[in-house]
Amino acid sequence: MNDFKKIIALDTYHAGQLAALHLEIDDPWEKPWSAQSYEEILKLPTTCAYGIETSGGRIIAFILTQMSEHEGEILFLMTQKNFRKQGLARLLLNHLIKTHKITDLFLDVCTDNKAARCFYEKEGFVPTGVRKNYYHAPSCSATWDAIQMGWKRFP
Ligand SMILES: CC(C)(COP(=O)(O)OP(=O)(O)OC[C@H]1O[C@@H](n2cnc3c(N)ncnc32)[C@H](O)[C@@H]1OP(=O)(O)O)[C@@H](O)C(=O)NCCC(=O)NCCS
Repeated sequence: MNDFKKIIALDTYHAGQLAALHLEIDDPWEKPWSAQSYEEILKLPTTCAYGIETSGGRIIAFILTQMSEHEGEILFLMTQKNFRKQGLARLLLNHLIKTHKITDLFLDVCTDNKAARCFYEKEGFVPTGVRKNYYHAPSCSATWDAIQMGWKRFP
């Protein structure tokens, strides 16, 4: 991380920026989340979210989770396209794990989302199950399975 970027905790103030970033995702299984959806999630006491902010106040990567004690579900993690493969998603994941002394993480990822599956595998997540037809295309009848993945802290 250089001097021009820092990790910040996200709150409802950032809902609009997160929704705008989410619009960049053009995967056919993804429905963009509205600013209102982000605001509702960010309001929940169980939500924990961090972003990487530039010196100009722009969020270029974020992680959104639901936490229970030291366990968390990753709802969404993304890095803006022109900042990918620079270690930003890994930084956010490690920050979350360290800050909340996390012992267990889990998530769903689309079978066709090769980038995310590679990312999570590199970070030590392993497949734990499959949910058939979990993702639905917003505008047609196509469906995709979800791979469930989990991470555990080594004792
Ligand atoms: C998945 C995603 C968050 C990764 O973000 P990123 O900031 O580029 O990831 P990092 O740079 O921290 O990568 C960490 C490791 O994962 C690997 N990785 C990241 N993207 C990869 C890809 N497309 N293919 C293969 N490996 C990849 C990196 O190579 C790196 O390992 P290395 O340092 O040994 O090379 C990003 O591709 C993204 O925003 N995708 C769209 C949103 C999405 O699908 N999110 C997941 C749903 S929860």
